[in-house]
Amino acid sequence: MSNLTMSSPTPISKSSGITPTPPEDSNSQVAAPAFDVKNLSIWYGEKRAIKDISIQIPARTVSAIIGPSGCGKSTFLRCLNRMHELVPRTRIEGQILFNGENLYRPGSDPAMARRRIGMVFQKSNPFPTMSIEENVLVGLRLNGVRDRHVLNERLEKSLRMAALWDEVKDDLKKPGMSISGGQQQRLCIARAVAVEPEVLLMDEPCSALDPIATARVEELIRELRTRYTIVIVTHNMQQASRVSDRTAFFYVGELIEFGETAQIFSSPRERKTEDYITGRFG
Ligand SMILES: Nc1ncnc2c1ncn2[C@@H]1O[C@H](COP(=O)(O)OP(=O)(O)OP(=O)(O)O)[C@@H](O)[C@H]1O
Ligand SMILES: [Mg+2]
Repeated sequence: MSNLTMSSPTPISKSSGITPTPPEDSNSQVAAPAFDVKNLSIWYGEKRAIKDISIQIPARTVSAIIGPSGCGKSTFLRCLNRMHELVPRTRIEGQILFNGENLYRPGSDPAMARRRIGMVFQKSNPFPTMSIEENVLVGLRLNGVRDRHVLNERLEKSLRMAALWDEVKDDLKKPGMSISGGQQQRLCIARAVAVEPEVLLMDEPCSALDPIATARVEELIRELRTRYTIVIVTHNMQQASRVSDRTAFFYVGELIEFGETAQIFSSPRERKTEDYITGRFG
């Protein structure tokens, strides 16, 4: 069982309760952020995997998270839609505002947060007993949508958005597990967008894809960026620079720098960021 606790709104500064001005190089202020994360720390048992991170993630833009393996990217991402609390022996401190509301406010429904904030994982995970069609529509059905016309429309639209429609339109009743790994990953993207979430969290969504499927997913991200808030974790720095507006660099549980992607890759303000993007470590 998870022993997660999420403190209710905590004073930001111990002394004054006033939000400290973030350092210019780490996180410039964003108008109406989708996520306003304040002093977030995350523990696994005794180990603190995320260390006092504050970041404002803008709405309707693509934010990339980069950093060496084990620096806390997935841990951070999972907190943004309350998936993290499914992990045993974890504890969270700090505050995450989603559209201005405390995501973890007592009594709020984690399932609702996960519906509004969709997630695509590194390893594709179609439901094994379901067909391609059922996989895409499962979320809508759970939400009580029964109208066949609506379901058919959403099925095609979601599969088109995930650049999979042409490949599976004649095989919709086949098992979701019967298609290739790369197709399964796009099926999971279709499943995530089918419920029309406001946010799409993507944890290394292309790591199992070939260059063609990767290009399709990147195209999809670019298409969705004006309507969705997208946060994508990637080890591929070319990908981060191709698809994202802003990039955050994490290092051993800390947020080192968050800024315009072009700036992060051309003139990072922090030495650690520069060392990482130039391949000196990581
Ligand atoms: N379920 C867990 N139980 C205990 N420790 C964990 C768990 N998941 C992650 N950790 C630890 O938390 C830290 C951050 O892990 P996380 O998976 O968030 O890193 P990451 O940046 O996503 O790495 P990668 O690039 O390899 O996916 C690591 O030290 C890891 O060992
Ligand atoms: Mg990870």
